[in-house]
Amino acid sequence: PGAASAYNRRSVRKRQKGREPMRVSIGSDHAGFEQKQALVDYLAGKGCDVIDRGPDSDERVDYPDFAAPVAHDVADGAVDFGVLVCGTGIGMAISANKVHGVRAVNIINTQFAALSREHNDANLVTLSGRFVPLEENERILDTFFATPFGEGRHTGRVEKIMALEN
Ligand code: RB5
Repeated sequence: PGAASAYNRRSVRKRQKGREPMRVSIGSDHAGFEQKQALVDYLAGKGCDVIDRGPDSDERVDYPDFAAPVAHDVADGAVDFGVLVCGTGIGMAISANKVHGVRAVNIINTQFAALSREHNDANLVTLSGRFVPLEENERILDTFFATPFGEGRHTGRVEKIMALEN
C-alpha cells in the first residue's frame, strides 16, 4: 500500500475507545516551541505515546523543516495523528499538506476541531502558539483525538480529496 493508505481509521477507532494509547507525532518552530513543550507533557500525561520531532530550543528555525518529519510519521502510519505548532499554524498546515496521505487542518477552536475530524477525516492538526492560549489548544487536541470520522456521505468526498494528489 502507498503512503496515502497508511493512515488507518480502524487503528484510530480502537485507540479512541481506549484499548491502546493514541500515537502522536508533534513538532513546532520557534514561535510554537513553548506550547509544543507543554503539549508534549499534556499528551504524555493523558497516556499518549508521543514522538517529539523537535526543535529542542526556541532558537529561530524554518517551520517546513519540522512539518516534514511529523507529516511523514502520519503518512507512514507510524502514528495516528500529527500535531504542529507555529505562530499561526498556517505555515505548518501548508507544508504538511504537501505530503501525500496527510490531511492537515489549521484549527483555532474546538468546534472546527470536531468538524475537521467528522467531515474531513483530518489526520494532522496545526495550532497557533501566538494567538491561541495553551488551555484552548489542549481542548482542541482533546476534541480532535476523540472525534470519529463521520463516514457516510463524507467518505466519497474525502476519497475525492485524496484523488487530487499528483
Ligand atoms: C514565524 O515568524 C512565523 O512565520 C511562523 O511561526 C508561522 O506563523 C508561519 O505560518
